[in-house]
Amino acid sequence: MTDPVVHLRAGGTSVVVVADAERLPRIIHWGADLGEVDAAALAIAARPAIGDSAVTYPQPVPVVAQLSEGWLGRPGVVGSSSGTRWAPLFRDARYTLDGMALRCEAVDSEYKLALLVELELLPTGLVRQRATLTNAGDAAYRVDALEVALPVPSHADEVLDFTGRWALERVPQRRSFHVGSWTRESRGGKPGLENTMLMIGGERGFGFRSGTVWGVHLAWSGNQVLAAERTPADTRRLSGSELLLPDEIVLGSGESYSTPWLYGSWGDGLDAMAARFHEQRRAEHPLSPRPVILNTWEAVYFRHDLDTLIALAERGAAMGAERFVLDDGWFTGRRDDTSSLGDWTVDSTVWPEGLEPLVARVRELGMQFGLWFEPEMINLDSELAREHPEWVFDAGHGAGLPSRHQHVLDLGHEDAYAHVFGLVSELVGRLSIDYIKWDHNRYLLDAGHTPDGRPGVHRQVEQLYRFMRELRGAHPGLEIESCASGGGRIDLGVMRYADRVWPSDCNDPHERLEIQRWTGLLLPPEVQGTHIGAEVSHTTHRSHPLDYRAEKAIWGHLGVEVNLLEADEAQLAALAGWVAFHKTHRELLHSGTVVRADLADASLRLEGVVARDSSAALYAFSVVERGATWPPGRVRLPGLAPGTLYRVEAVFPDVRVAHLPPWFETGVTLSGRALGTVGVEAPSLDPDRSVLLHAVAVPDA
Ligand code: GLA
Repeated sequence: MTDPVVHLRAGGTSVVVVADAERLPRIIHWGADLGEVDAAALAIAARPAIGDSAVTYPQPVPVVAQLSEGWLGRPGVVGSSSGTRWAPLFRDARYTLDGMALRCEAVDSEYKLALLVELELLPTGLVRQRATLTNAGDAAYRVDALEVALPVPSHADEVLDFTGRWALERVPQRRSFHVGSWTRESRGGKPGLENTMLMIGGERGFGFRSGTVWGVHLAWSGNQVLAAERTPADTRRLSGSELLLPDEIVLGSGESYSTPWLYGSWGDGLDAMAARFHEQRRAEHPLSPRPVILNTWEAVYFRHDLDTLIALAERGAAMGAERFVLDDGWFTGRRDDTSSLGDWTVDSTVWPEGLEPLVARVRELGMQFGLWFEPEMINLDSELAREHPEWVFDAGHGAGLPSRHQHVLDLGHEDAYAHVFGLVSELVGRLSIDYIKWDHNRYLLDAGHTPDGRPGVHRQVEQLYRFMRELRGAHPGLEIESCASGGGRIDLGVMRYADRVWPSDCNDPHERLEIQRWTGLLLPPEVQGTHIGAEVSHTTHRSHPLDYRAEKAIWGHLGVEVNLLEADEAQLAALAGWVAFHKTHRELLHSGTVVRADLADASLRLEGVVARDSSAALYAFSVVERGATWPPGRVRLPGLAPGTLYRVEAVFPDVRVAHLPPWFETGVTLSGRALGTVGVEAPSLDPDRSVLLHAVAVPDA
């Protein structure tokens, strides 16, 4: 390929790359589609003035940055052969372009290292990049870091990322895009509850609907770092890499290491950025209508008993559930969370006839059957740990700190992998299990592979992917949920094999509204498990009426996680009503475009889903706390087609509040433009109450 400037265009995105034979690829534009443009002229226009030193912050910076080129920021390649070959300089780049996929193969002939950089623009306008380092020399080469980056312009002046904790995942935090690097690291062998998931830079004050934003995500389920870096020369980059432990990757002669894909999305507003991720997911991983789940966890916890569970299943089916999921507590010895992880056989004292009678009844009731597993975990109090203590990770100080009384099983031991895979696969096959709730409740703190204690995190993640891949291969149609104490493993790496995530152990709708909204920047609603919990939340002890709990759950992959055996007829009927409502609208909810309004009043939320053909939309208007001003005033309904007339009605629930705006009585018919610009008056609700607004296009008269 001879053209030194490549212009990739797809899905409303342009990526312009300087791709000359001298150096690694340099991106001079990632963002809005530029249309037909003289890319070479653009490259000239984008060339910076040369400063007083040629060796400080070269411009533009290659996607894999190199110290040897004068880059003093975060290094792209860190590694050595026992202290030599530590400052690589990749040149002699050979570029190939295949559609919207650009490959650059460069070498450092002195060091005998080769680097492949892949940059792909996907049809949705998502861009992804990864690098592969190959050791062509004789000496072993230890890789400490291999990082790829996407540049953002100087008007990306604010950074958004997320933190969190158990039952409160994805808490946003914003800061100015200062000089220096803002890094978010995960060192616990999974992204973690506090993981940022995305690193976003954007125009100051950006919101869901306005302000251009750029965000990156690393498709990896292990240790990682995402960074937003700004240099004294005002270069701004968003980067990502696997966080490698000492000697975790040592390349023998001819061996290679590839980074995970770093995905990048941009948009005018966070909604547009998120929409590209959603579209990509939907294109790659189409799903059947999401079956409504009845999950046993918060209903019975470890109190498993056939009669109770059958009664629960019967009530669930009557309520409209389509999949019954038996959570933790079914396997040998598991009466509480102190023991037995690893012993994946059905407990014969609790289940004398096995799980078969339950499964048979569940199927008779027309439901699918799902089962909870935690395949990567082990309790020291288990038959497995007693037989194979060497399969517990150990970095030299024993099994290390317990967390929820448990430790991590090292799947890097092939025998351990085969043992657990065999047990899980046998049960999935025998019971024709439709769905696995795949949990992961301890961090990999000191994950040393026995006997020498070398780091085993990278290998563990590879084995996880292999496990899921092989299990799905052996049992076509099997679905998997990625759960890790809630939302501790939400990433596009595991999502290659998983069908949904469990965003949080918190079913409190007040918290769920925020958790789902922010998790929704990466994943579409149908991939988020959203369950109706008990009236008094088991994690926050707040109490909420059913309507609010249900309304916050209908948007995603709906489930019910309450003890239906304690519900009275009226409650069961109300639940059934919500399940039916969800089923009526799930096609729209699970295929439409997610929109969230930017409201000045922090006590209000408005979000919804607009059908792809703009023919209908469903919105929830919520009051989350008592605002300083009152009544709430008008809310604009985002995302409708401006030139289309819509009939808007408040549909559900049957709101019993003192102050309803008059239009609630009759509904209102207005253009999408008017609804998006002027909006409609919102009702005066108490905190933690909501109404649903349904907009339906009115055929032209
Ligand atoms: C984790 C999960 C819960 C539940 C329990 C069972 O905490 O996040 O949803 O499955 O384990 O022990």
